[in-house]
Amino acid sequence: MEKTPKMSSRNLDFYYGDFHALHSISLELYEKQVTALIGPSGCGKSTFLRCLNRMNDLIPISRVEGEVLLDNEDIYDPGVDVVSLRRKVGMVFQKPNPFPKTIFENVAYGLRVTGNKDGAFISRRVEESLHHAALWDEVKDRLHQSALGLSGGQQQRLCIARALAVEPEVVLMDEPASALDPIATQKIEELIHQLKKNYTIIIVTHNMQQAARVSDVTAFFYMGKLIEVNDTETLFTRPKYRQTEDYITGRFG
Ligand SMILES: Nc1ncnc2c1ncn2[C@@H]1O[C@H](COP(=O)(O)OP(=O)(O)OP(=O)(O)O)[C@@H](O)[C@H]1O
Ligand SMILES: [Mg+2]
Repeated sequence: MEKTPKMSSRNLDFYYGDFHALHSISLELYEKQVTALIGPSGCGKSTFLRCLNRMNDLIPISRVEGEVLLDNEDIYDPGVDVVSLRRKVGMVFQKPNPFPKTIFENVAYGLRVTGNKDGAFISRRVEESLHHAALWDEVKDRLHQSALGLSGGQQQRLCIARALAVEPEVVLMDEPASALDPIATQKIEELIHQLKKNYTIIIVTHNMQQAARVSDVTAFFYMGKLIEVNDTETLFTRPKYRQTEDYITGRFG
């Protein structure tokens, strides 16, 4: 394991109004690794994930305490530009959410909003991103058709391409395959495996087999607390805590 984490949370507390959703979470996330967040519904996985690119800022009653570091700088510092933070720390959601635009324009979107007008550059980047998302061959002849005509699994890979087009450093994925069939899921898992060569990836999943297949490190959350984090194989074969064991053996959750 590398020494300096790409991102880390330190004593992170998060509140929705009076509700204390995350309790002093300290977790390190390393480059070229996949970290899986697991735990029962409502334990705070998505909340934690959204803290990593300040998506929770959009919830007015919410409050954060503690630190989240990206390359050793606190992303909650007042001087931080949230738009450029979210470019560095991209996100893919549970339900594929392509824009009602063409396939090409979905991927080009992030480049256009930053004011890029270099058509040749945009075309090149769109093609590269679709290749990286393992979608190019399926869409290369229909780039200018609506993205809404793609299958669910293709739409999700399109959303991944859209996230990759702005060259993020970290990719957050909140149950990216839960709405997909087994074949599309397998494609996403293979893709995650490829992407980890270049990115820091954090994935929330309810599927324990999936966590075991795709991740290097697994963190188990329970009732807003980080109970245990370890390399994935150790966490699944020799959990330290009773709650972890109960969860991974299917006794609750
Ligand atoms: N916008 C919100 N306002 C108030 N409470 C919220 C909000 N979003 C989440 N919560 C609460 O925070 C807690 C953690 O929710 P979160 O969505 O992070 O859980 P999760 O682990 O992702 O669950 P799931 O596996 O069901 O997606 C839950 O008790 C939830 O009800
Ligand atoms: Mg969630």
